[in-house]
Amino acid sequence: MSTDSSVERTLVLLKPDAVERHLVGEIITRFEHRGLRIAGMKMLRFTKELARKHYAEHLEKPFYSELEEFITSARCVAMAIEGVDAVLLVRHMMGATKNTDALPGSIRGDYAPVTQYNLVHGSDCPAAAAREVALFFTDAELF
Ligand code: RTP
Ligand code: MG
Repeated sequence: MSTDSSVERTLVLLKPDAVERHLVGEIITRFEHRGLRIAGMKMLRFTKELARKHYAEHLEKPFYSELEEFITSARCVAMAIEGVDAVLLVRHMMGATKNTDALPGSIRGDYAPVTQYNLVHGSDCPAAAAREVALFFTDAELF
């Protein structure tokens, strides 16, 4: 293990399409089989207010209204996932954002047909992970 590896927590969302398509178990299994640990987990439906907080960096993007409509459309599963280098490991396991760039073997590459309906969210850096885990979980909900 390199000296700059560290135990991290990252925020993972199984988006409405993952729940609708009954892929929750499949996706959680991948993270567990990789050796990552579930430190917190809950089911929730996004409000518009929560969507604006969680995706604050995208508020001015042309795709924001579609993104908000999608993420608030039905329930999600939120997880705090923990492990060595968890932020980057989860991002690699998710696959690229753009549908045609997501490689087979990744979650999106195996299951997501289009960019918008891409099943899973993972924090994109440790600072975002800390902010996002705190948005969904209290300290008492993390184990
Ligand atoms: P996420 O935040 O959900 O983990 O996804 P990401 O980092 O891979 O991608 P990001 O750039 O943060 O975009 C957030 C979500 O917005 C939708 N999107 N649509 N139509 C488009 O060009 C476009 N770009 C992004 C996707 O649902 C993406 O996951
Ligand atoms: Mg993102």
